[in-house]
Amino acid sequence: MKPLIEVKNLTIEFFLKNGKLRACDNVSFTIYKNEVLGIIGESGSGKSTLASGILNLVQSPGKITSGEVYYYDENDKKVNLLELNTDEFNEYRWKEIATVFQAAQNALNPVLRIKEHFIETVLAHDSGRPIEDIIKKAEEVLKYVRLDTNVLEYYPHQLSGGMKQRVLIALSLILDPKVILLDEPTTALDVITQWYILDLLKDIHERLGVTLIFLTHDISVISGVIDRIAVMYAGELVEYGKVTDVFEEPSHPYTKGLLNAIPTLNDDVTQRKAIPGNPPNLIQEFNECKFSPRCSIFLDGECKGSREKTKIMYFVNDTKCTRCYELAERLTTVKTGEGA
Ligand SMILES: Nc1ncnc2c1ncn2[C@@H]1O[C@H](COP(=O)(O)OP(=O)(O)OP(=O)(O)O)[C@@H](O)[C@H]1O
Ligand SMILES: [Mg+2]
Repeated sequence: MKPLIEVKNLTIEFFLKNGKLRACDNVSFTIYKNEVLGIIGESGSGKSTLASGILNLVQSPGKITSGEVYYYDENDKKVNLLELNTDEFNEYRWKEIATVFQAAQNALNPVLRIKEHFIETVLAHDSGRPIEDIIKKAEEVLKYVRLDTNVLEYYPHQLSGGMKQRVLIALSLILDPKVILLDEPTTALDVITQWYILDLLKDIHERLGVTLIFLTHDISVISGVIDRIAVMYAGELVEYGKVTDVFEEPSHPYTKGLLNAIPTLNDDVTQRKAIPGNPPNLIQEFNECKFSPRCSIFLDGECKGSREKTKIMYFVNDTKCTRCYELAERLTTVKTGEGA
């Protein structure tokens, strides 16, 4: 697997009146070419902030206070996106890395027809492109999202929420990007439309080989389409690995809690347990593991919840990594024991 985007020690802070809020805390991970990655975390865990960091679109009072985001181009040449100026970054934004922002359906301009959205987007990056050419391409990408090309003549208010979301996915495809970041692409849609959109995204991934990154709080919706999963808690990645591997044997107590909380159709919902407590306020310096107040291992007195030890992540196997040093030790010890 070749890397496509490498995020290294990315920290993003919001400078607020009542203090400094660290929404992304020293985040490091790699996105590989042609994979489908899911970044999961509850509301406020920092998913959208991480996405804006990757795109260097963090707005004041937010600031990237440290870290790098490397992009590997077709020839595997490595570029630090955060060192580029706006014009240079525009060569990557949308052309290489496209985004469907959270709640973006409301971002469609109500006074512009859908075709004008496509034209504006393309001309912003390629001012010389003939209009007929853009319309032809727009028709092609609308087919990928299973929309009739008539919608080009419509205004946004004439479309349903699910249709608007599909227009936005089509819009993200218009410049043939290598990767699309999708921030809560199916939230606020009914279950049938959610599945329909995920199905067509899977289809687009298979046909075009485009790398997909889903950012969502809804682990159950995307678990069937992702190859790898990264779990975010209070601004930190706490675990990542192959989705089957993580589901089979989660190596962080937060992931365990998340998986325990998902109801299934033929399940006794009374058996499902919510994770006790609430996520922490992010305006503070942490002196212990961020998850410890909600962690059964800590509450049972089996772990001291050292902050120092949770500042790094630990490999449990070749592809799975966790921030929980206690579980890492247990799982790795068991594996060694089995193999011995
Ligand atoms: N513009 C901002 N000003 C101040 N704080 C912000 C701003 N944007 C985000 N935050 C804070 O950063 C933290 C992470 O927010 P973010 O929107 O990235 O979370 P999220 O995981 O995307 O949540 P959701 O699932 O609700 O979309 C939160 O504590 C939030 O309050
Ligand atoms: Mg968000």
